[in-house]
Amino acid sequence: MSRQIKAIEWDADKIVLLDQTLLPGVEKYLEIRTIAELVGAIQRLVVRGAPALGVAGAFGVVIALDEAKTGNWSDGQLDKAIDSLKDARPTAVNLAWGVNQVRPLIGLGRDAVVQTALKLADEDRDANFAMGSIGADWLLRELGDRPLNLLTHCNTGSLATTGSGTALGVIKELHNRQRVKEVFVDETRPLMQGSRLTAWELEIEGIPYRIAPDSAAATAILSGKVDAALIGADRIALNGDSANKIGSLGVALACSIAKIPFLVVAPESTVDRSILNGDSISIEMRPDHEITRFAGKQIAPAGARTFNPAFDVTPAKFISAVITEKKAYEIAKGEVL
Ligand code: MRU
Repeated sequence: MSRQIKAIEWDADKIVLLDQTLLPGVEKYLEIRTIAELVGAIQRLVVRGAPALGVAGAFGVVIALDEAKTGNWSDGQLDKAIDSLKDARPTAVNLAWGVNQVRPLIGLGRDAVVQTALKLADEDRDANFAMGSIGADWLLRELGDRPLNLLTHCNTGSLATTGSGTALGVIKELHNRQRVKEVFVDETRPLMQGSRLTAWELEIEGIPYRIAPDSAAATAILSGKVDAALIGADRIALNGDSANKIGSLGVALACSIAKIPFLVVAPESTVDRSILNGDSISIEMRPDHEITRFAGKQIAPAGARTFNPAFDVTPAKFISAVITEKKAYEIAKGEVL
C-alpha cells in the first residue's frame, strides 16, 4: 500500500504543492507561479514543516526571478519580494536558510539557482534516510533491540520534507526493522497536523498507530504506555534548546519525569548556530479563529481573546539527544551542537 508522497516539487517554471490544508479528505495539488501565491500558501500552511519550507524558500527565489523578468522589476523590487518570502513565517529557520542558500547565486543566472535548489531538495531526502538510521540505531541501543511503543507530536514525515521525514523517518526505519509496536499520535491542536497528516502517512505506510488528544500525552507516558517520544524541530539553538510545534514541551516534561528518551530529529539546516539558546527564537503567534472556530463553526464566545503560539521551546535539559544526518548529539550528556 506504501506510495511516495510529494509535498513539494519543482516543475520547469512552477512549484507544485500538495495542499496540506485539505488532507486527509482531499488530495489536491496547487501550481505556484508568483511570490504572492507562495507567501500566501506558506502562511495558510498549504506547505509546512521546516525542511519543506527550506525547499520552498529555495524554489521561491526562482519564482521571484521569473516574475522579475516578466514584470520588468527593478533590483529593489526583486529584493523586496525575496525578503517577503524569507520572512513569511518566523520560527522555522529553514525557510530563510533555503532562500539564503540560493540568493547569492542570482548573479550566476536562473539555471544556477534552479540547480542548487534541486540539489537542496535531494540533499534533504538523503538527510532523512541518514537521520532515520542514526535515530533508529540510537533508540535500539538505548532501549534494547525490541519492538517499541513510540509517541510523536505534529507532522514530521514526507509531508514536512522531501523524503521519509525526520522523527517520522526514524519511526519508518524502525518499522522497516520490525521494531515498532504502536505509535501514539498526538492530534496536535489546533490545526491537527497529527490526526490529519501524521495518521494519514502512517496509514499509507501500514504502521500501527492510535490518535490521542494532546492532553492525553502525559497520561500515556507516565502510565508506561510509551517507550520513547520523538519530535522534529523548527529551530535548534547551539545549546540544543529546540523550537517545535506547540505542545512539544509538555511531551518533553512528561518524558523527563517518566525517565524515558525524548529525541529531537532534524537536519543540520534546522540548527541555528548563530543563537546560543532558545531565548532568541521568535515564536509565531497565530490568529484567534484557529482556536475560536472548529470545522467552520464558532465554538467560543464571540470576541473571546486567545493565546495561540504556533511553537514552544523545549530546553536542552529535557532532550535526550538531537539526531541530525551527521550524528546523535548527546544533549543529555552535555554535548552541544
Ligand atoms: O506549523 P507547522 O505545521 O509548519 O509546524 C511544523 C512543526 O512544528 C514540525 O514538527 C517541524 O517543522 C518539524 S518538520 C520535520
